[in-house]
Amino acid sequence: MGRLFLTTPIYYVNDVPHIGHAYTTVTADAVARWHRLAGESVFFLTGTDEHGVKVARAAEAAGRSSQDHADATAARFQEAWKLLDISYDDFIRTTEPRHQLTVQAFLQKAYDNGHIELDTYEGLYCVACEAYYVESDLDDGLRCPIHGTPVERLVEENYFFRLSRFQDRLLEWYEAHPDFVSPPSKRNEALGIIRQGLDDVSLSRTSTTWGVTVPWDEKHVFYVWFDALINYATAIGYSSDPDRFGAWWPTTHHIIGKDILRFHCVYWPAMCMAVGLDPPPHISVHGFLLVGGEKMSKTRLNQIAPADLVNDFGVDGFRYHFLRDVPFGPDGDFSYEGMISRYNSDLANNLGNLLSRVATVVARKCGGVGPRARPDSPLAAVAAQAVATADAAWRRVAPSEALDATWSILRETNAALEAAEPWRAEPGPEVDGVLGDALEVLRLVAVLAYPAIPGACEELWRRIGLSGSPGDERLPAAAEWGGYPGGLEVVPGDPLFPRKTA
Ligand code: ME8
Ligand code: MG
Repeated sequence: MGRLFLTTPIYYVNDVPHIGHAYTTVTADAVARWHRLAGESVFFLTGTDEHGVKVARAAEAAGRSSQDHADATAARFQEAWKLLDISYDDFIRTTEPRHQLTVQAFLQKAYDNGHIELDTYEGLYCVACEAYYVESDLDDGLRCPIHGTPVERLVEENYFFRLSRFQDRLLEWYEAHPDFVSPPSKRNEALGIIRQGLDDVSLSRTSTTWGVTVPWDEKHVFYVWFDALINYATAIGYSSDPDRFGAWWPTTHHIIGKDILRFHCVYWPAMCMAVGLDPPPHISVHGFLLVGGEKMSKTRLNQIAPADLVNDFGVDGFRYHFLRDVPFGPDGDFSYEGMISRYNSDLANNLGNLLSRVATVVARKCGGVGPRARPDSPLAAVAAQAVATADAAWRRVAPSEALDATWSILRETNAALEAAEPWRAEPGPEVDGVLGDALEVLRLVAVLAYPAIPGACEELWRRIGLSGSPGDERLPAAAEWGGYPGGLEVVPGDPLFPRKTA
């Protein structure tokens, strides 16, 4: 049986959840759900990143201890993920003992292997990024290119991770594993960073105590990125359960935004090599969700909270929008107008209207009992093609393509109904055939769209008279044409997705 260890970034608790965090998390959730439908064993991990100067300062500004601040904000993330139907299997927090022990075990090993050494460091630091910059990367030589805020000069005695030694091994790894990082544009970006030449990176701090203590020198805490990346190893038992770790690690798939590409696609594989571990097999990197052409950030005050949009569009309207309308990879601009128009065309019209129409005509022409599909329906081939396209797209983390393929079945079905006009015809085998085909399409779409809009698909399932949940179905069997048994009561009801006006 297939296995998948799927992860999102662990989000900083200096900030409350916004639609950028939700974009990554909903994407990962939908991918996890697709793999579960396919009968695979899935371990889906998310969590919060709670150490570091940035969090300590945010806590200070909020007038509470770092731990209290982390507790409160981690709870905000958990609430947001509950609201958005995120089916994570584990929520990791870097302040948990299981994680602190793993960070110490992992980095002690890298130290024992000779890849960590003491040195002095002076550099330009952006606290918001928790990263040093060279002057040429800064805006006007003084401001962080991501946050637009001034960097600070820091001088510290630090332990260094000897990243520079891994350049050749990283290039060989990329060469031997063409789909290590995707999409290709992001792979090239990572390769570009490695080819430019790698400097050693500072791995500890003495300027803060809010972190995991370096076990061989207790004046230091680990730099937050080295702490954070190891969460992926903690959650599957790196230091507590080697068998469990061994079973999940070779199936790892990280989903991240491009802001943290350097850490995941350069540092992290080198850290793995430093402890004698193969890097994770897959990292998928998406672009920024922009609002009015700008990246959302706390510093720019242009963040949108998921709950605001859920109030207007519902959970499934929210999930569908970001999965379908913001292709994974390039940057995408969010607009409220765009959200309304996508919602109306795909959810209210293509899906919602098909269901209402079928329920109405089945009530009038078939006594409310849904007929079976025709085995030789022309829609069978359309569906088979869409299923194959959707499966391939979900597997390479392209939800927008998967959903476009799924909606192609709905478009064809609506066109077939328009052509046949069963609402005008006399009851009989012809009408039964057309409606049976449409019901079969609704069954199929309830399964195929379940990873994206689970709540709506459960309701759809119930309306066409089926029991259980589409989430309990298994592919590929559930995607074969003809699964709708017929003879079931089709339940009329309110529109699944009421139309929106601006
Ligand atoms: O970087 N568009 O946490 P973070 C799209 N703790 N995605 C966005 C986004 C936007 N405008 N803004 C945020 C950290 N994201 C570290 C990660 S992992 C070991 C440690 C999403 O809270 C996107 O996934 O700054 C991005 O990579 C992540 O949030 C950064 O979250
Ligand atoms: Mg960030």
